[in-house]
Amino acid sequence: MTRNSLLHQARYALRHPDRVIPHARRLTRDLWFRLQTRDHVDYYRAVMRSDTERNPDRAVGSKSRERWLKLGKTQFDYLVKHGLLPEHRMLEIGCGNLRAGRLFIDYLHSGHYYGVDISPDILFAAQQTLADFDLRDKLPHLTPVHDLRFDFLPDEYFDVVHAHSVFSHSPPRVIEECFAHVGRVMKPGGWFDFTFDRTQGREHQVLREDFYYRTETLAEMAERHGFKAMFMDDWERLPHKQSKMRLVK
Ligand SMILES: C[S@@+](CC[C@H](N)C(=O)[O-])C[C@H]1O[C@@H](n2cnc3c(N)ncnc32)[C@H](O)[C@@H]1O
Repeated sequence: MTRNSLLHQARYALRHPDRVIPHARRLTRDLWFRLQTRDHVDYYRAVMRSDTERNPDRAVGSKSRERWLKLGKTQFDYLVKHGLLPEHRMLEIGCGNLRAGRLFIDYLHSGHYYGVDISPDILFAAQQTLADFDLRDKLPHLTPVHDLRFDFLPDEYFDVVHAHSVFSHSPPRVIEECFAHVGRVMKPGGWFDFTFDRTQGREHQVLREDFYYRTETLAEMAERHGFKAMFMDDWERLPHKQSKMRLVK
C-alpha cells in the first residue's frame, strides 16, 4: 500500500484526527499553486516561497532550530567521514538556508562552496544564516537556478556534489536532467552524494511534493549517464528516513 492510497489516508486520519484540517488546508493551497504554475519546478518554488515566509527552518523540513542544527551536523559529519577535504570544491544542489551548508562553508577554503537553489526566498534566508554564523569572510557562492543543467558553471570544476532531501521532492524528469548535466561540471574521480525517499514497492508520489523511488531506478538512470552508483549502507544506521546514494564519475 502506498502513502497516497485512499485506504492509507483514511487509516492515517483515524490515527491523527488533529492533522486532518491542516492537511486539507495544504491540499487547497497546493491546488491553487498548481493552477497558477507552469511546471514542477515553478510549482515547488511557489511552495518554498509560502513555507519560507512562515519559517525558513520548517521550509527545509526541520520542526525546530535544534533539529535544524542536528540534521546539518549529521550531513556534515557523514561527508567528512566519507572523504570531504578542506581544499575540495563543492557544489550543493538545493542548498536551502544552509542547514548543512554553514558547516561546509566553515570547513572548506574560502570561495570553495557553491550553493544553488530554485527558491530565491530560501537563498535570502541562506544569506541571513551567513550573517548569523559569522561566515561572511568565507565568500560562498549562492545562486538561484531555473533548472539543473548548470550551463553557467565551468567544466570539471567540482570535487564533490551534494544534494540532501532534494530528489525526495523531484519527479524523474528533474533527476534525469541533473544526471545528464552534472557530470560535465565534476572533476574526473569526483563524486555526487544525494538522498532519496526509498520504496521497495511501487514508485509513487504524495501531493506532488514527495517522490518515492526504488534504488535500482535511480542507479540505472545514473549509469545511463556514465556514473558508477553505490548505495550507502552505513547511512541507513543514522536516524534519518531517507536513503543515500553516491555516484562516482
Ligand atoms: C528539504 S530542502 C533541503 C535543503 C538542504 N539541502 C538541507 O538539507 O537543509 C530542499 C531544497 O531543495 C530545493 N529544491 C527543490 N527542487 C530543486 C531543484 N530541482 N533544483 C534546485 N533546488 C531544488 C528547495 O527549494 C529547498 O531549498
